[in-house]
Amino acid sequence: MPVDDSNNRESDSNNPRHIAIIMDGNGRWAQKRFMPRAIGHQAGVKAVRKIIEYCVNHKIEVLTLFAFSSENWRRPAAEVSLLMALFMATLQREINKLDRNNIRLRFIGDRTEFSDKLQHKMAEGEAQTQNNTAMTLVIAANYGGHWDICQAFQRIAGKMAAGELQNQVISDELISQHLSTAGLPAPDLFIRSGGEQRVSNFMLWQLAYAEMYFTTTLWPDFDQNSLEDAIKSFKSRQRRFGHTSEQVLNKAVTL
Ligand code: IPE
Ligand code: IPE
Ligand code: MG
Repeated sequence: MPVDDSNNRESDSNNPRHIAIIMDGNGRWAQKRFMPRAIGHQAGVKAVRKIIEYCVNHKIEVLTLFAFSSENWRRPAAEVSLLMALFMATLQREINKLDRNNIRLRFIGDRTEFSDKLQHKMAEGEAQTQNNTAMTLVIAANYGGHWDICQAFQRIAGKMAAGELQNQVISDELISQHLSTAGLPAPDLFIRSGGEQRVSNFMLWQLAYAEMYFTTTLWPDFDQNSLEDAIKSFKSRQRRFGHTSEQVLNKAVTL
């Protein structure tokens, strides 16, 4: 993955800090070409590389990619196996490249359902890249927003039972700190390719104030221009976080 990590990286204070993407449409991309869905998933991996490269070059702090949902186990067994094999092969091939490009890799989702080999590779990738600073790449694998909120509550309840969180109010911050995305800024820009306009159990808590961008482009066709269009749309919007338009324009409030 040829990432340009040199001095001409663009920094733009209006850029989203965190972009979260539902990469949808691989299957339809293949079916349109009378090819098996597997080919669509392979083409989808290729599209990912260009998007990572763009984000690093434009100093996006966090890029989250939804790779496999907690509901995707419902697919035919052959497709699930193929996706697992592709996930493993991609990690084997890409972790060193991510590391060389100073990218920190992090996984969110219930990894206990994956094979030991895959879990080991995921842990290795995170450990190897943990001190990298160019960008954080979050891969959501066996991820579901409901799962994330449940596991956060479970850990909070565990700490309360153990006396570690005495008389603690259940606050926004406390919950955020126990989600799988703890320590990361919330996504500013949510993108879904493939034409569906739904959230499909992705980052339900974290998307509270994300700008939503939907495109009919199928994921394997989603390229740097597509991402640029999404970012342009993001920049054209006024984010108000509950304030009035006038307050924001007069800079009477800090957002
Ligand atoms: C997204 O593409 C990839 C995964 C869910 C793993 P799909 O496989 O959902 O593609 P479509 O929606 O069937 O076209
Ligand atoms: C969402 O896509 C999950 C990923 C892209 C990994 P799906 O294709 O599984 O979503 P639904 O089921 O159509 O909502
Ligand atoms: Mg789909």
